Amino acid sequence: MVKGKRSALVAVGLGLALSLAACGDDDSNGSGTDSGGGGGGGGGDVGKIGVILPDTESSVRWESADRPAITAACEEAGVECDIQNAEGDAERMTQIADTMIGDGVTVLAIVNLDSASGAAIQEKAAAAGVATIDYDRLTLGGSAEYYVSFDNVVVGELQGQGLADCLGDKKANIVYLNGSPTDNNATLFAQGAHNVLDEMKNYTVVGEQAVPEWDNEEAAVIFEQLYTAADGKVDGVLAANDGLGGAAISILERAGQAGKVPVTGQDATVEGLQNILAGTQCMSVYKSATQEANALAEVAIALASGEEAETTGTTEDSESGREVPSILLEPQAITADNVGDVIADGGQKYEDVCSGEYEQMCADAGIQP
Ligand code: BGC
Repeated sequence: MVKGKRSALVAVGLGLALSLAACGDDDSNGSGTDSGGGGGGGGGDVGKIGVILPDTESSVRWESADRPAITAACEEAGVECDIQNAEGDAERMTQIADTMIGDGVTVLAIVNLDSASGAAIQEKAAAAGVATIDYDRLTLGGSAEYYVSFDNVVVGELQGQGLADCLGDKKANIVYLNGSPTDNNATLFAQGAHNVLDEMKNYTVVGEQAVPEWDNEEAAVIFEQLYTAADGKVDGVLAANDGLGGAAISILERAGQAGKVPVTGQDATVEGLQNILAGTQCMSVYKSATQEANALAEVAIALASGEEAETTGTTEDSESGREVPSILLEPQAITADNVGDVIADGGQKYEDVCSGEYEQMCADAGIQP
């Protein structure tokens, strides 16, 4: 286990006032474009900001939530942003970074695919005088000026507590389906979940495995193996995100156990929320993309303007020991009782979550269009 000291303060509440340097530029055009405006006055002369997302498969969040939120944050701040996706390929991320640096971006934000490739990108950027930001995932051994994310140990603690709430006091066998071993967040999620569940002596861990690259298909294979090895005696599944949770649920379905065995998740995806409504998933964790994107835009603008950004504390890089100035936001647990909160906050659309067979379930849960 990583000794990752959590020294950053948690930003308080969903209402964290990361006030953007609003520019009063209200032309909100085309959310599907790659770049966010640029014509507004608020961003001043900060140049272009490059953002590289990791992939489209490990979670739907990157394209469905982060891209539109970052686009909107950039537009609102009147700063030009070039948002690309590395499609799960670290070499591709390096090439995109090279192109962006050559293109003269003033700030480069990455969601690394692994710390080594992320650190190499940041080193090159620094050599070219380009400041860098770790977006969502800390690059261990990296040199990013800032780290913008959620408190990821708390994410894991919410998952652990959520599973415990669904299981109750009975004796229970638990399987952990952890995220990618190359993702520092996955380490923190597992750490947080263990913080809570290891204390509870009525639970026994009967299987625990990390899923390379958060690959959902591989997750199903891994879970099936763990399930078989445990003779089907699995009472709860700590799955690190909704995609991995969905993979576990698909195997439980085949075994006639879906809905009987609580499964956790993360990202409050459409699928995750629908599984919660249907009773096959116990909980998810909502991390507002709007909050995270706004924090990113604010930090990027500060960096490009040579100013210091407001932080919530620092996070220790467990590899180098460096204290990285951070903005860590507060995640929220989502259960059957508050699925509507995600929709009310704009995290998902009613039409997407409450479509087809889920319309009645939404109505039953008090979720209105
Ligand atoms: C993010 C999660 C996401 C996972 C897979 C993590 O680093 O924090 O929100 O589900 O990566 O993409």
